[in-house]
Amino acid sequence: MSVTRKTLIAGNWKMNGSAAMAESLVGDVLTGMPDQDGLQLLVLPPFPYLAQVILQCQSHSLMVGAQDLSAEANGAFTGDVSASMLLDCGASHVLVGHSERRELHSEDDQQVAAKFKAALDAGLIPILCVGETLEQRDSGLAEAVIHRQLDAVLEMVSIQGFASAIIAYEPVWAIGTGKTARPDQAQEIHALIRSRLEAQDATIAGSIQILYGGSMKPQNAAELLACEDIDGGLIGGAALQAQDFLAIAAAA
Ligand code: 13P
Repeated sequence: MSVTRKTLIAGNWKMNGSAAMAESLVGDVLTGMPDQDGLQLLVLPPFPYLAQVILQCQSHSLMVGAQDLSAEANGAFTGDVSASMLLDCGASHVLVGHSERRELHSEDDQQVAAKFKAALDAGLIPILCVGETLEQRDSGLAEAVIHRQLDAVLEMVSIQGFASAIIAYEPVWAIGTGKTARPDQAQEIHALIRSRLEAQDATIAGSIQILYGGSMKPQNAAELLACEDIDGGLIGGAALQAQDFLAIAAAA
């Protein structure tokens, strides 16, 4: 494929940190960020620190997003946060369907698709997370799982909904385990995702960013990011140290 896509390195902090840690981590990232054409950096702090991080990033190119959102617009949904609230406080991106939400909060494909649509409708860029468990991979079900997760969203928003969205392939067995998918394993699934979209719209499929996530670190980032269909990384643990996050960005 001859399309040149920007590389996006996104740091998902998950439920980690404090106001002081957020300030110092973002400060260090802002200081060390490479000013490189074609490279984008994004941080995804916990909700309580979004506003302060957004303020800190004003007039910088570091983008800020959220880790989840509600599919509902407003109302009696205690503890939930809507797309318009995220947009209102200055977030640009939001994760949708992270495996920890699917597993720990029983989010199913339909709920994930509804969240994706809510994000799009509000003008946020959704980052759709897909990925199989080890059991599914070992049973030869990886492709079917990825197709099912993708198709639920395609049915809800059509291929046009992917024109301003991002996909992250995060094999569940590689998240926080120290096990990373081999570059050929990751590339195979990334190509599968792109070809599923390509069947409906080659332009959208060619330009969408597909990130890899799962124990990405400075030591393995370069070989993963060198794969044809891997357009960036969704980093967990290594995003909590500015040095590691920046080293991954440098590898890109
Ligand atoms: P780790 O990089 O800690 O494996 O986490 C990946 C992840 O889930 C990012 O969303």
